[in-house]
Amino acid sequence: MQGRFCICVSLNLLSQYCKHLDQQQKRGVKPVMPSSLQILPGDDQGLSCAADILREGGLVAFPTETVYGLGADARNDHAVARIFDAKGRPRFNPLIVHVHDAEMAKLYVEWSDTADRLASAFWPGPMTLVLPLRAGTGLSPLVTAELPTLAVRVPAHPVGQALLRAFNGPVAAPSANPSGRISPTSADHVMAGLEGSIDAVVDGGTCDVGLESTILGLTDAPTLLRPGGLPHEAVETALGQPLAQHGDTDAISAPGQLASHYAPGAAVRLNAETRRSGEHLLGFGKVDCDLNLSEAGDLIEAAANLFGHLHSLDNMGAEVIAVSPIPDMGLGRAINDRLRRAAAPRDV
Ligand code: TXA
Ligand code: MG
Repeated sequence: MQGRFCICVSLNLLSQYCKHLDQQQKRGVKPVMPSSLQILPGDDQGLSCAADILREGGLVAFPTETVYGLGADARNDHAVARIFDAKGRPRFNPLIVHVHDAEMAKLYVEWSDTADRLASAFWPGPMTLVLPLRAGTGLSPLVTAELPTLAVRVPAHPVGQALLRAFNGPVAAPSANPSGRISPTSADHVMAGLEGSIDAVVDGGTCDVGLESTILGLTDAPTLLRPGGLPHEAVETALGQPLAQHGDTDAISAPGQLASHYAPGAAVRLNAETRRSGEHLLGFGKVDCDLNLSEAGDLIEAAANLFGHLHSLDNMGAEVIAVSPIPDMGLGRAINDRLRRAAAPRDV
């Protein structure tokens, strides 16, 4: 009760502060946002506070079934710009717009029969569709990085869904981690990475899927742009045709396509059958290791554990993380994609 009282008092202050910022902005004063982070519960009161912060141009991290997102009102240039600053994200990387249902997605993109078939089969869920951007949507151009397309997603997590319904508008949200680092699958991960640069996090527990959404490009032949939490085999079955693959020589249209991404602090060595001296072993299956993605060799369990275990090994002070071989099928394909990028040489 007392905690809630504190949260609401602080939110009141935040709301007054935001009004003050508006006045400052009108006078041309560069806004500075407060650095104290609100941790909100995923109940009606917490969600209504979170929706108000979004309306006022704040940044709210919230749970989805894949990973936590860092949300801002997708129509508010200043709020969207703050996402890029908070994450240290390159501005050429566009953001996914999150909405609570397909009807709202249709306000922002040119819909198609293929989109309809996939949305009926997999939304709400871990799938993002890239479609032609509709004209005159009022979305901030920062969201699309001036591409003629827009990525849209309807997440399934009950707390994320409830926040989107309470806000009742488009929420631009990348994963809530500093750019290039491991994605967050708990509110603690969000706070460890972004405390001081965002306004609130809605705590909805640990994410079930644990890998970002599968991104499908639908502007041409259906194309797998990023493997993710929905196995590509399921998409191909629903479409009745194989997906085209995003070629390595194509222009980068997703930061997840950058060679180095999803990186822990430690160096990463892949396909490790044994642990070398000084290494921490992230195992899969029945192996002697420091942490196991899934002793039973279950890829769904491994996906859910991947980012959390990488965070934990970093916290254990690992210098090199060796990783057991992971079968390259179903969710294993997305797991291997993330691991390859985590192991890649880092330019930044
Ligand atoms: O599961 C997820 O997708 C999570 C949760 C929070 O929804 N979000 C997420 O966002 O992973 P982010 O920004 O970390 O990755 C989204 C990817 C980026 O690689 C971005 O470049 C790509 O989507 N993307 C966004 N708009 C695009 C577009 N118009 N065309 C191609 N790729 C796009
Ligand atoms: Mg990300």
